[in-house]
Amino acid sequence: MAKSSKQWLRRHVTDPYVRKAREQGYRSRAAFKLLQLDEKERLLKGGMTVVDLGAAPGGWSQLAAEKVGPAGRVVAIDLLDVAPIKGVTILKGDFRDSIVLDALRGERADVVLCDAAPNLSGIGLTDQARQLELAAAAVEFCRKALKAEGVFVVKAFQGSAFDELMRTLRSVFASVRIAKPAASRGESAETYVVARRLLAGKESA
Ligand SMILES: C[S@@+](CC[C@H](N)C(=O)[O-])C[C@H]1O[C@@H](n2cnc3c(N)ncnc32)[C@H](O)[C@@H]1O
Repeated sequence: MAKSSKQWLRRHVTDPYVRKAREQGYRSRAAFKLLQLDEKERLLKGGMTVVDLGAAPGGWSQLAAEKVGPAGRVVAIDLLDVAPIKGVTILKGDFRDSIVLDALRGERADVVLCDAAPNLSGIGLTDQARQLELAAAAVEFCRKALKAEGVFVVKAFQGSAFDELMRTLRSVFASVRIAKPAASRGESAETYVVARRLLAGKESA
């Protein structure tokens, strides 16, 4: 086994969030990233409509469905199959297509979550550019599908593309904050950005 694979495996089996996810029935340790973001930022409330872009295997959607409850709605999409989750409408495809907009049928979401990540090439600049492209596409999605007072949470990687993403977010949202939850590994360049309230004139049909 390659050294990097061994390191990943060792980290995975000793990771407290992997254990907690298994114990609490979440499909991914990523659920704890959203839980911690929610504790800090108060994102998810009963009755809300939430869209989860890049949802597989479904940890964020599981948590979102719990938080919005039976009066709420969660629409999740991924390129990969996602096994059914109670209270979640699961779509298969590319969120850059109109599939989610079609499912929303004109309803705007209270919260758009985007934990989508590209297949990593291992080449830093290429991966950052691909991540930026996904995040920028999610911003465009928000312009079409997020309520004016809504909240957008997006994964980002610190690096050369990060400033460009922050510029894009600040040109569309009134409030933009960086938030790295404890469950996002300290050594990883991954972080999250929480953006609130579409600026006037930034909604698009
Ligand atoms: C880190 S995982 C998401 C983990 C998820 N938040 C959870 O809690 O289980 C990133 C996902 O983004 C998906 N993805 C990447 N690009 C996408 C796209 N254009 N449309 C839909 N899903 C995409 C990948 O297939 C992958 O499953």
